[in-house]
Amino acid sequence: MKVASLSEQEKAPLDSLEQWEDDLLLRYPEPEHKAKDEYRNYDNPGRDTVREFYRLNHTYQTYDFVMEKEREFLKFDKKEMPVWGVAEFLNTLIDDSDPDTDLDQLQHLLQTSEAIRADGHPDWFVLTGFLHDMGKVLCLFGEPQWAVVGDTFPVGCRHSDRIVYPEFFELNPDSKDERYNTKYGVYEPNCGLRNVHMSWGHDEYLYQMMKPYMPEPALYMMRYHSFYAQHREHAYDHLMDDHDREMFKWVNKFNPYDLYSKSPKPPVVSELKPYYEDLIAKYLPDTIRL
Ligand SMILES: [Fe+2]
Ligand SMILES: [Fe+2]
Repeated sequence: MKVASLSEQEKAPLDSLEQWEDDLLLRYPEPEHKAKDEYRNYDNPGRDTVREFYRLNHTYQTYDFVMEKEREFLKFDKKEMPVWGVAEFLNTLIDDSDPDTDLDQLQHLLQTSEAIRADGHPDWFVLTGFLHDMGKVLCLFGEPQWAVVGDTFPVGCRHSDRIVYPEFFELNPDSKDERYNTKYGVYEPNCGLRNVHMSWGHDEYLYQMMKPYMPEPALYMMRYHSFYAQHREHAYDHLMDDHDREMFKWVNKFNPYDLYSKSPKPPVVSELKPYYEDLIAKYLPDTIRL
């Protein structure tokens, strides 16, 4: 499958990237707010869009596709800019969704990081909140939505039925390939996630970009924040080692800030910018390569 040969509809099945996150909220509502049934009964044409998004994601995210994307993007030879500039660049993503309810990308980053800051967490954790979705700039390089966002999952071994819309993995050629369709596939039992290739998207891309600079718990949060099949469903314990289990405590700590930190008052970017510029300068170089 070559991305260039895809139709517009196949590259961008969602109205906007937020549609995936809105759907996550329905799937994993804040415990005190809604029952899970509400998700199942949810009657909304947007759900068909999300379904189509997962059909494409589960069909095309093969082991070979991931290898190809890693080769293409982990060279980081596309662009070089200051980190704050990346956040602004991300904001040039045109968002067609309802302007009344949706925040732009930069505001989502700031809401997440401000909620972490308000709870008194260490500054690198705050910075992680600010950075966590910057990998979505992949979209601006013409990547299809299903190779930027969506729940992530290991490739090269059997797809768990605890991944959202598991029935679509029938369409993934890896599910018929005996190298990849057994419980462990190309991996060893409890080999540790550092040896496992995940479906390609904004998580892995940002992790690789930030690897030299951020503390390890921050890197786990970046790399696995969309791995709902593990941090919510525990479907891949058999690939994890003790170190992963220890570090996933941080991934779990991060997840509610990502999903539930939508405050009614949007953050005022100009007021927050100086604090974040200092924080960026403390941990990261002047410019970063994309
Ligand atoms: Fe994300
Ligand atoms: Fe996010």
